[in-house]
Amino acid sequence: MKPVLAAALCLLAAPAWSDEIVGTGGDVVEGAGLYTAYCATCHGDNARGAGRMAAILTILPPDLTRLAAENDGVFPVSRVVRQIDGRDPLLAHGGVMPLFGDFFQGAGVAVAAETGQPIMTSQPIADVTAWLESVQE
Ligand code: HEC
Repeated sequence: MKPVLAAALCLLAAPAWSDEIVGTGGDVVEGAGLYTAYCATCHGDNARGAGRMAAILTILPPDLTRLAAENDGVFPVSRVVRQIDGRDPLLAHGGVMPLFGDFFQGAGVAVAAETGQPIMTSQPIADVTAWLESVQE
């Protein structure tokens, strides 16, 4: 088989990114940038709560570095994904209409939940979730 044709077939056979289970391994660097842009105002630069907006909120933003510690040492991937994408509505996140708008919408990638089950979500949410997991105490 000609090398060019072989290479083309390899490309065709490669799974589409969207079908891949990224596990908790979304892109941590991307996630850090997204966190700073969309979450730090409330949850704080280091995710420990007490961001700039915390003072005017009636419900205090929780310390997001303790999610695993408060869940018997297991980072609660599925809960976090659902809370960010709005499937588990949090009033502070805009309730049933997520505060984050279209950017965080969409079901493009599968993230492996702590049970091993895949959960569909968007790439930015997979990235933010991966970053959050990386900052667990
Ligand atoms: C407007 C302020 C605000 C912004 C912006 C915000 N949050 Fe929150 N977040 C909160 C508050 C307040 C709570 C607690 C809500 C409650 O307990 O009902 C919360 C709860 C959460 C929880 C649930 C924690 C738990 O114990 O289950 C997660 C996860 C979370 N936020 C992640 C994020 C991420 C990731 C972003 C950015 C994409 C973000 N938040 C942006 C205010 C905010």
